[in-house]
Amino acid sequence: MQPDPERRAFWHERYAAGAAWSGHVNPVVEETASRLVPGTAVDLGCGEGGDVLWLAEHGWRATGLDAAAPALARGRDEALRRGVADRAEFVETDLGTWDPEPVWDLVTCHYLHEAADLRSAVLAAAVGAVAPGGTLIVVGHHPDEPAHLAGPRGHTRFLAEDLVEAAGLGDGWQVTTRARPRTSVRDGVTVERVDTVLVATAPAR
Ligand SMILES: C[S@@+](CC[C@H](N)C(=O)[O-])C[C@H]1O[C@@H](n2cnc3c(N)ncnc32)[C@H](O)[C@@H]1O
Repeated sequence: MQPDPERRAFWHERYAAGAAWSGHVNPVVEETASRLVPGTAVDLGCGEGGDVLWLAEHGWRATGLDAAAPALARGRDEALRRGVADRAEFVETDLGTWDPEPVWDLVTCHYLHEAADLRSAVLAAAVGAVAPGGTLIVVGHHPDEPAHLAGPRGHTRFLAEDLVEAAGLGDGWQVTTRARPRTSVRDGVTVERVDTVLVATAPAR
C-alpha cells in the first residue's frame, strides 16, 4: 500500500522535537522473550528502539523497522552507547510495503495505532515474517482503556481476539490473548491504561 506522507511527517516531527518514549523495554517483550532461546528478532514500528536495545542486550540479533529517521538515529546512538551496535540494527522502512520472508524467531509490534488498512497490512506481514516455531507479539490499546487517554489525534483500539481472526491464526498456532493493565505517566500524571496483548507461537515446520 502507498505510504501516508501526512502520518510520516507527524511522526518525523514528533521525534525530531525530542525523545518521545522512555527508551525502556515494553513489559510484554521482556516477559515473553525471557522465556525464549535468543535468536533473530524484528520490531515493527520500533520508534526509538527500547525493545530492540533490550533484545540485543539479552542475546538476540535484533532489527528495528520504522519510517521515522530521527527515531532510528536515536536508537543507533543508544546501541553504540550500550555497546550492542553489532546486534541492534535500525532500518528505515515503510511497513505498508514491507514484504518479509518467514525467517524471524521473534516478531514484535507495539502500539502501531495507525489506519485500519495499514494495521491489516502490517499484521499480515508480521504473521508471514515468523519462522516455523517462532513467536509473534502484538500489543495495542484495549477498548476498555478510558477514552480521554487517546489524545487529540485518537488511538485505534482493538481486541486481541479480533487480531487472531483477522490474521487467520488457526492451524497449529498456539495463541494467548489478554487485557493487561498498565500504569504509565503522562504529562507528569500517573494514569491507568489497558493493553491488548496477543502472543502466538507458529507451528514448527
Ligand atoms: C506509538 S509509536 C510506538 C513506538 C514503539 N513501538 C514503542 O512501543 O515505544 C508508533 C510507531 O509506529 C511508526 N510508524 C507509523 N506508521 C508507520 C509505517 N507506515 N511504517 C513504519 N513505521 C510506522 C511511527 O514512526 C512510530 O515510531
